[in-house]
Amino acid sequence: MVVCKYCAVFSPAPVALLFHLIPAMIQPNNAGALDLREPRSSAMHAARRQCATKSVRYSLASERECHIVFVKLSLVVLSAVRCRGVTGKAIIEREAAMTRKMTERIEEHIITEEPFYVAQSNEIDIAVTAYENELPLLLKGPTGCGKTRFMQYLAWKLKLPIITVSCHDDLSTSDLVGRYLVKGNEAVWIDGPLTLAVRHGAICYLDEIVEARKDTTVVIHPLGDDRRQLPIEKRGEILTAPPSFMLAVSYNPGYQSVVKDLKISTRQRFVSMAFDYPTKALEEEIVAAEAGIDAGLAEKLVKIGHLTRNLKDSGLAEGASTRLLIQTAQLIKSGIDPQAACMAGITQSLTDDVELIQSIEDMVEAVL
Ligand SMILES: Nc1ncnc2c1ncn2[C@@H]1O[C@H](COP(=O)(O)OP(=O)(O)OP(=O)(O)O)[C@@H](O)[C@H]1O
Ligand SMILES: [Mg+2]
Repeated sequence: MVVCKYCAVFSPAPVALLFHLIPAMIQPNNAGALDLREPRSSAMHAARRQCATKSVRYSLASERECHIVFVKLSLVVLSAVRCRGVTGKAIIEREAAMTRKMTERIEEHIITEEPFYVAQSNEIDIAVTAYENELPLLLKGPTGCGKTRFMQYLAWKLKLPIITVSCHDDLSTSDLVGRYLVKGNEAVWIDGPLTLAVRHGAICYLDEIVEARKDTTVVIHPLGDDRRQLPIEKRGEILTAPPSFMLAVSYNPGYQSVVKDLKISTRQRFVSMAFDYPTKALEEEIVAAEAGIDAGLAEKLVKIGHLTRNLKDSGLAEGASTRLLIQTAQLIKSGIDPQAACMAGITQSLTDDVELIQSIEDMVEAVL
């Protein structure tokens, strides 16, 4: 007989057997133990009868132990049931919802239609080869010369989602990697764009990377070298990027001050490609196709663009971009007088300087 008599008295026999086996083994003293086969009332009676004896004093200690273990066991059993039943189900449902949401989030970044892109040189080959070798890519070039369009084309060609982040000086590591958000009364982890791209093997394109603080950009260092890892400190997790993940960054070297230059250790992780405005013939093709105008008008606008790009010596920071030429072409196509369209679409967008405005206006008049 290995059952403590007090527990036997106060519990139904099967429960007592189940929960008191362990206490009885902890304190296997059978002094005064009751036979569970006795009817309950006679067991109680027997316990009371033994109260005056030495063995009952001993049994009181056993009773306390038995009940402590009983309570502990009950808690373990209850929490196991709760975990498997309620909490476990809730966790599974929540994780399924998060996976669904993440899949939806990544699907937004898939480019299904081929973007119109006119190659300027061998940039497509270099980028595809960099991707195949799991190397990160850096694009540099003036505003509106086609860097973003190139990345969209590359993503479409490689059949990868592309997640673009426009960097700024308030951008924090958490903005890139992710953070816990309080929802209801629980903290829910939300992946940042970089983490999302790493998890799904997508392209993460950090536009104007020099705008981000240097302490933020160092988070891409382990991703940008052969480790290809993203540490998520807040979760104590390190993600290793799948082969399809690609890191790409871009910036415009023209406007950079020493303060806003890239750290050497950052830039020396990348395969770098310099972009510039397309050649005259290519730019005419691009402007005509994008704005849907005839070749003659495209030729004139591209000529104006080239003339403004030669004004750098006269103090113009940057000439008209391909983007500005396309926008001007769109104004003209929609019925705005060409000269007024050039004033609004090109001249006023380039400068506030009265003399420069006059010079550009003269050029426009001469070409149109
Ligand atoms: N090679 C090209 N093929 C097709 N379209 C082009 C090309 N280059 C430029 N464009 C056109 O010029 C526009 C501006 O290009 P894009 O937005 O890629 O410039 P960007 O270099 O990313 O500029 P920013 O540095 O200001 O972000 C595009 O929307 C596209 O219409
Ligand atoms: Mg861009």
